[in-house]
Amino acid sequence: MRKVRISFFGLGYVGLTTAACFAHKGFKVTCFDIDESKIETLNSGKTPFFEPRLEELVKTSVETNFLKAVKDPVKAVLDSEMTFITVGTPNKEDGSIDLTSIKEASKTIGEALRLKDSWHLIVVKSTVIPTTTENVVGNNIKKYSGKHLGSDFGLCVNPEFLREGNAVEDTFKPDRIVIGESDKKSGDLLEAFYREFYNNNFPPIIRTSLVNAELIKYVNNAFLAMKVSFINMIANLCQEIPGSDIEIVAKGIGLDKRIGQLFLKAGVGWGGSCWPKDLKALLNFSVKNNVELPLVESTLKINEAQPYKLIDLAKELIGELNSKRIAVLGLAFKPDTDDMRYAVSIKIIEKLLEEGAKVVAYDPKAGHNAKKIFRDIIEYADSIQECLKDSECALIVTEWDDFRKLKPEDFVKLMKIPAVVDGRRIYDPGLYSPKLRFAAIGLGRRKYHNPAFAANAIIKEGERILLVKRAIEPCKGLWSLPGGFMEYNETVETSLVREVEEETGLKVKPLKIIGVYSDPLRSPVKHVITISYECSIVGGALRPSSENSEIKFFPINNLPKRLAFDHFKIIKEYTKAHSKNS
Ligand code: UGA
Repeated sequence: MRKVRISFFGLGYVGLTTAACFAHKGFKVTCFDIDESKIETLNSGKTPFFEPRLEELVKTSVETNFLKAVKDPVKAVLDSEMTFITVGTPNKEDGSIDLTSIKEASKTIGEALRLKDSWHLIVVKSTVIPTTTENVVGNNIKKYSGKHLGSDFGLCVNPEFLREGNAVEDTFKPDRIVIGESDKKSGDLLEAFYREFYNNNFPPIIRTSLVNAELIKYVNNAFLAMKVSFINMIANLCQEIPGSDIEIVAKGIGLDKRIGQLFLKAGVGWGGSCWPKDLKALLNFSVKNNVELPLVESTLKINEAQPYKLIDLAKELIGELNSKRIAVLGLAFKPDTDDMRYAVSIKIIEKLLEEGAKVVAYDPKAGHNAKKIFRDIIEYADSIQECLKDSECALIVTEWDDFRKLKPEDFVKLMKIPAVVDGRRIYDPGLYSPKLRFAAIGLGRRKYHNPAFAANAIIKEGERILLVKRAIEPCKGLWSLPGGFMEYNETVETSLVREVEEETGLKVKPLKIIGVYSDPLRSPVKHVITISYECSIVGGALRPSSENSEIKFFPINNLPKRLAFDHFKIIKEYTKAHSKNS
């Protein structure tokens, strides 16, 4: 039996991937797009964007003549029995769906069908708001062809669930096929095609009405986005709880079969060409139907704020970002694609620039797209190494495999200040925290209340600094003197050095102890003890100390202006003593 011949309207990422996969399985596919450059690119065996395995499929299918693109849309329709509509459905300003391309495509298909005698099936694969297929596509085809739905042509809605970066794999091995149909004949034809396409690996199938199929697509995306926003919301809570980690919490709940492990990866938020536009279109549609969708609203709201969490963490590690060189690793909205549509990297870079940072960015694939957005406002590195070199904080924005392979030593070796904020949870905190300044989305951390922590950013190895230690300690003999400066002796000094080394992981060479201060306002059981002395860093990395203590390093020539009271007092004492001595 002759295989059904297929045409495609729209050579975006869904259209081209699906067309190439169909052609690869021996179906004759003719494509049309209003953008002539896409037609030329396809016919030369190339792809206008990066998608794993796709170029190889396009190349072989064009060579074997199963796949081609034509400039005449009428020819595409007349050369086929079944036409897939895969044009874009972006948002308008108010979030509602923009159906311009859908209307245009259905008008052109209608005009072509006027010239055709035999029955034709039109399959809408574009994501469209419920009722669009019947009311817009169906009516346009009737109007421009002069034909009747049912007797002359049929309509199906056949949503796609392809993930960018996995699109070829997802086409060959989908979880299910959804077919919405205007009548049985239309559904039967599409099902028969898929049975032939999948042969022995036919996935579960759902056959239903046009509106149900339209809804399934939106609800699927909304549910997945809600899952990710949910885990990001909990990640933000984890961050405030020392000792907690969203990675473990997500694993713990994901093993419950009713929840599942997938799409529970916390991070800096979701982006891409689908979820942001689809959720907004769904909300807009619900408002028009007088129905509230508070979970969808919250899903979007959480995602709006999520990218900025990365900036907050960076500030906690290195202080104000103004004039600091910040390395952004990853620009694409997810790995294995060069797509930057609604990528969180855009918001992150815009915020970094607003804060006065100097941004240097690297992405294995998306650099050319970033240049269209940021032009020469940021620096583009050609490698990870070039990006990290001399930077003062590295932000992990996309989880490319190459970034996963990095070790703490790579950051320490290349960066001016080795500080990493893991926005995609690709590094083991157990390995990173002891070796460099490390923070991650959803990783419980200590809170640094003192704005002077900013000063940490400018300490270099070997630099002479004033070290102020403030700790809440249980009342022990040595520390129990209430109030004022305590007398210190050699035992105190040795114990201080040991303690500081243990807490910081640094080798500290004390030069002069300035003072030990106990805060009498604290409860008699817990004393706040502030110790300060001049010392130099011999080597090692800075890391947060124990639960109840803070260690601050203030470069002597650059003491921060805003300090907590007790630190201020210590530094004043120090400065007095220092100026007397010199
Ligand atoms: C999504 C859906 O997964 C597809 O089923 C659907 O066909 C497609 O939209 C579409 O409507 O065309 P896609 O946008 O390519 O696919 O990518 P996803 O893998 O779903 O990721 C979306 C965003 O969520 C990315 O920014 C990703 O980094 C983020 N994400 C995903 C997380 O932050 N955590 C996760 O656990 C999963």
